Parts: sequence; C-alpha cells; structure tokens
Amino acid sequence: MSNPVIKVENLSKKYILKHKNSEPYTALRDVISNKVKTIANSKSQILNPKSEEFWALNDVSFEIKQGDRVGIIGRNGAGKSTLLKILSRIVTPTKGRITIEGRVASLLEVGTGFHQELSGRENIFLNGSILGMNKNEIKKKFDEIVDFSGVEKFLDTPVKRYSSGMYVRLAFSIAAHLEPDILIVDEVLAVGDADFQKKCLGKMKDVSGQGRTVLFVSHNIAAVQNLCDKGIYLKQGKVQMIGNVEAVLSSYLKASSEIQQIDLADRKDRSGNGIIHFVSVEVKNENNIPMKSLQCGKFGKIRINFNRKNNMPLNNVHFAFGINDEYGQRIAQFNNEITNQLFSDLRVDTIDIIINKVPFRQGIYSFVLFATVNNEIADWIQDAGTFEVEAGDFYNTGKLPPDGQGNIFIEHSFQLIQP
Ligand SMILES: Nc1ncnc2c1ncn2[C@@H]1O[C@H](COP(=O)(O)OP(=O)(O)O)[C@@H](O)[C@H]1O
Ligand SMILES: [Mg+2]
Repeated sequence: MSNPVIKVENLSKKYILKHKNSEPYTALRDVISNKVKTIANSKSQILNPKSEEFWALNDVSFEIKQGDRVGIIGRNGAGKSTLLKILSRIVTPTKGRITIEGRVASLLEVGTGFHQELSGRENIFLNGSILGMNKNEIKKKFDEIVDFSGVEKFLDTPVKRYSSGMYVRLAFSIAAHLEPDILIVDEVLAVGDADFQKKCLGKMKDVSGQGRTVLFVSHNIAAVQNLCDKGIYLKQGKVQMIGNVEAVLSSYLKASSEIQQIDLADRKDRSGNGIIHFVSVEVKNENNIPMKSLQCGKFGKIRINFNRKNNMPLNNVHFAFGINDEYGQRIAQFNNEITNQLFSDLRVDTIDIIINKVPFRQGIYSFVLFATVNNEIADWIQDAGTFEVEAGDFYNTGKLPPDGQGNIFIEHSFQLIQP
C-alpha cells in the first residue's frame, strides 16, 4: 500500500518568454529571426535578444504514495498547472524525471484531453481506450458517466459546441469513472456550478476511498482541506512546503497574507480601564482555518484574542462587536448580553463569534470592539478594523436582490392567505 506511485525527481521546466515590442523594426527582426529558426530547423535555440528564460518549475522533488489525496496550492503562476501537465505527460520536462505507476486520468484546463471534432459519446470511448480499457469495460461505465455528467441530450454533439460548463461536466465524469489509478484534477472545476462542484468533490472522495490516488489543485481552501490529507505548497516554481494538509494550508495562507488578521495589541486609540486588552481579530472557517473573508450565506467565525490584566479570572464580562457599513452606519451587532451569555469566571483569552449563515452582502465592513467587566468599560476601540464579505448565494436560489436593495439578507418566505 505504501509504495510511491508518483516519484518526481529534480523536475524543472523552462519556458522561453518573448517580449513583444511594438516597434516595426523589432517586429521585422522577429520575423527574420523566426525565419532563420525555421530554415535552421534545428533544436538549437536562436535566442531573440528580447527573449528571456523562465523557470516555471525549478528542481521540484517529492513522492506520493498510493491512496494519498494531495492538494497542490500556491499563488497564480506558481507552476501548479505545469506540474499537473507534466504528470499527465502533456508537457515534457526540461530537466529531471518523473516515475508513475498506474493509469493516470486527468482533468486539466478546458481544451486538453478531448478531441474537439468528436461527439461526447466518441470522446468517452476515446478517453477510455487511452486509459487502456477495452470496449466492454468502457460500455459498463458508460451509463454512469453520462448520468453523472448530465449531458445526455448532447451526447452526439461534437464537444466543440459544448459550453465550458458542459465540457467540464463530461470531462470530469470521464476522468473520475474510468477507474484510473491516479486522478489529477486542475482548477477547471471552478467553471461548474456550486452543486456540481460539490458532487465532484464527493466523487473524488469516493475515488480516493477505493485506494486510488488523487492530485487536486484548487483555490478553494475549504475544498482542499476537506478532500486532501497531504499538501504541496509551490512558490515560484519551487516546493515551499510538503506535508500534512492543515499545516501546509496554514503556512500558505500566512505567507500569502490572505488571512485577515487585525493586530490590535499596540493600538493607542482605545479607552477603558485595561482589565481586558484586545490583541487581535481573525476570520476563520468552521475548521479554524484562517480566511481572508467571510462568505455570504456560509458559516463563519470571528475570533477575538485578548489579554486579561494579571491573568485574573473575570466576572460579568460583556463583549460587543458592532458592524458599520461603508457610510459608517451601524447595521448590526454581535453582543453576548443580548444572547444571554454574560461570562463569569472567565479564564480564557480567546473567544469566537459563531455566525451560522453570514447575512451580509459582499463588501467591506468596519467594526467596533467593546468589552465591559462589571459594567465598567474595560477596552473599547472605535475604528478597530475592517473585514471583507465575499459574494454568496444566501437564499440558495442563484438569486440575490439587486444593488441598492439593502446589505443584509434575511431568511423569509411568502404565504398566500385564502380569503
Ligand atoms: N506555454 C507556456 N509558455 C510560456 N510560459 C508559460 C507557459 N505555460 C505556463 N507558463 C508560465 O509558467 C508559470 C507557471 O504557470 P502555471 O503552471 O500555469 O501556474 P499556476 O497553475 O500555478 O497558476 C507562469 O508564469 C506562466 O505564465
Ligand atoms: Mg493553473
């Protein structure tokens, strides 16, 4: 079970970047140099002085064991897709080598892996045979593939006429159902709708549960965390960190400063007797992974870190977190007095505000932090900071009110009353 099924050794990929120049003189020289290249018809590179070497991957080494679910993360341009393309043998490495045991099915950027002129049906058979399956084996899986993809009506249409959504549905379905030993999925899933994405993540979980290996690139941190047990963090073509997925994600989020952590420890614009001293505020998801923002309609957590003077246990502690819109109008408040949760014998220095369904429209909101102990103001910071809310489908209908119709969403329904 624990042999490496993928071994990557000192893998590097070089691209030559040509700098476009709008001067006609240079354009002409480009044309000539290209002609020379063609005439020379050799692999020796005649480098345009305006071109530059670029290492998309630089000395990357790692091993993946059978059944590993590996999330590959990193900023745009880090080399994630290049790595997946090399592993799928669509791109050849410049240096180093890869060893792969087993059949690989991949879902890469839209446009790879499918034959444009062939129909959906024909592409299912084509992909199956590329994976080394015979006709009967493919036939057995055919209905499942079509069913999962939901493109039944378009099975005999050439895939070049598919929308990108249909394309991804079918491509994913083929890759996931043809029993590959290794399933490689790049960010393309982002093209599909939220329900389909969920279905795909479930399917990838099933696939990995059968002892198959999954490599997954996504910007959706929660999805990576949910699916993967191992993480590889790429930075500018190099492996920055490899290991347990939680640790790798934390390190990535910290480094990419995508975390919303607001430092309050040294703020001077505060009042109160100092029995409580706010230190920082963070936004987290349900698994305590730090997030850049809250998402409308989703679960969210706001974590407040503070110090207690002399570490004393505190009684009758009241926190308030006031939220202002872009015009400075108070639109809501989190407050443990209203929720009847006044704290007594408080001995912790961290408290979470739990929001089951974030009700705010996308945007940037500012907040006020306030704490009293025994009815005396302990700490109070007026303009404590801002937090961001990302757009989300609050009502799960694919619809949200138009702009100018309020920043807060309220769950409701309509009822007809018979006369
Ligand atoms: N065919 C190519 N020619 C030149 N540069 C490329 C090519 N493919 C990718 N790159 C460059 O390589 C780097 C890594 O790209 P990519 O692997 O797509 O990153 P990621 O998927 O992590 O966003 C980027 O800077 C990208 O512009
Ligand atoms: Mg990419």
